[in-house]
Amino acid sequence: MANNTNQAGFASKLGAILAAAGSAVGLGNVWRFPTETGSNGGAAFILIYLLFMFLLAMPIMIAEFTIGRHGQSDVSSSFDKMCGGKKGWKYMGLIPVVAGFLVLSYYAVVAGWTLDYAVRAGMNDFAGKAAADYANDFAAFSSDPLRPLAWLFLILALTFGIVAMGVQKGIERGAKIMMPILFIFIAVLVVCSMTLPNASLGLSFLLKPDFSKVTGATCLSAMGQAFFSLSVGLCCLCTYACYFRKDIDLIKDGFSVATIDTLVALMSGLIIFPAVYSIPGLSPDAGPSLVFITLPNVFQTVFGNMPVLAYAFSLMFYLLLVMAALTSSISMLEMAEAYFQKKYGISRFKSALGVSLVCGVLGIACSLSFGIWKDLTVFGMGFFDLFDFLVAKFIMPVGGFLTCIFLGWVVDEKILRAEITNDGKLKQPLYPVFRFIIRYFAPVCIVVIFMNELGLFDVIKMMF
Ligand code: PFF
Repeated sequence: MANNTNQAGFASKLGAILAAAGSAVGLGNVWRFPTETGSNGGAAFILIYLLFMFLLAMPIMIAEFTIGRHGQSDVSSSFDKMCGGKKGWKYMGLIPVVAGFLVLSYYAVVAGWTLDYAVRAGMNDFAGKAAADYANDFAAFSSDPLRPLAWLFLILALTFGIVAMGVQKGIERGAKIMMPILFIFIAVLVVCSMTLPNASLGLSFLLKPDFSKVTGATCLSAMGQAFFSLSVGLCCLCTYACYFRKDIDLIKDGFSVATIDTLVALMSGLIIFPAVYSIPGLSPDAGPSLVFITLPNVFQTVFGNMPVLAYAFSLMFYLLLVMAALTSSISMLEMAEAYFQKKYGISRFKSALGVSLVCGVLGIACSLSFGIWKDLTVFGMGFFDLFDFLVAKFIMPVGGFLTCIFLGWVVDEKILRAEITNDGKLKQPLYPVFRFIIRYFAPVCIVVIFMNELGLFDVIKMMF
């Protein structure tokens, strides 16, 4: 399908759904979700997360699909085309560029770690170690000034290679190959994990909510996690949607993407928490190191007398992480790349190369913030934490809020209805619900959670 960017869109509906699901399913599901769940008390966090996922993040994703597919161009032009002459909206096109650089720079660091761990798992490097060695190993590796950088550049090179091949031959083909493998791996790992000793303790951590642990900060974290996991708020899916065909049912297929994403997150929880509980003394709130320190230890300890299983389990798990990371990093590069391609009329190759190089430089700063630049902080945060904070807790909610305001209040309702119903071809009984969420519910929710986090409600209470 030709569009204004003069390139083919996704060739098939399945390819489009898998590519969007590929963007959504990533380290956010397999690494960040268990980390956030573990440090926010388990089941209660998951419940709030699910609400945010389907009532907030998914409608905003459908909103991004709508803008992208209607605009059929880069984000800036798409907003400009739909804004009915109201000034300023084209600057929304800057969000995916700025956020694309920030998010890819730190995401590629962790993606690089997963590649290192996959290679080490392949070489059976985790066998025969004492429990403390895993923590020491990870500390030494992540703070090393050079080794993580080599993996960071390799991930960026792979991402660049796939994006440079184009929408159909690169992004769509990559998703069609990697996503099914990812689903198979994850299913096998869940089954293995559920048979571990004490798996039921891990299950109850995931299923029995303790609402006493829920605070305003838990809600912001759950919202941030839902947005991050579904890649919404940065106009990333808006960029992908410009390659969507006209027969895609935005609400139904958006629901499929959100469901796939949620299932993968929950299944990652089903892999990780039973495994963590299978060794007494390990804690589910180990934080970001959960999958790099706790799990290799678990694999070796639990399968100590079955080395083949320990080997297979670790290798499969880290390969799963690598593939999940790649399908997402591709979408991050694409959202910034598409802007420069259109804006400066340069080739996809050159644009992707330029963005990758800049991300390489920023990525160095993020990587070194675990080692020699640990004390170099801005607002009390190292570069890695700062970038993550800016993206997940600031740009994503703000971007999501503006997207809702735009589609709910600025765009002519006829355009919205035509896009959601595929020019009247679909019945779409949920359209009024979707419109209500976009106009009222989502913007109010985002503002309330934000005000709460900034302590503004306390100020108001003190005033009265
Ligand atoms: N959704 C991805 C994940 O869960 O890992 C991360 C992500 C991709 C965030 C693309 C933002 C983005 F634009």
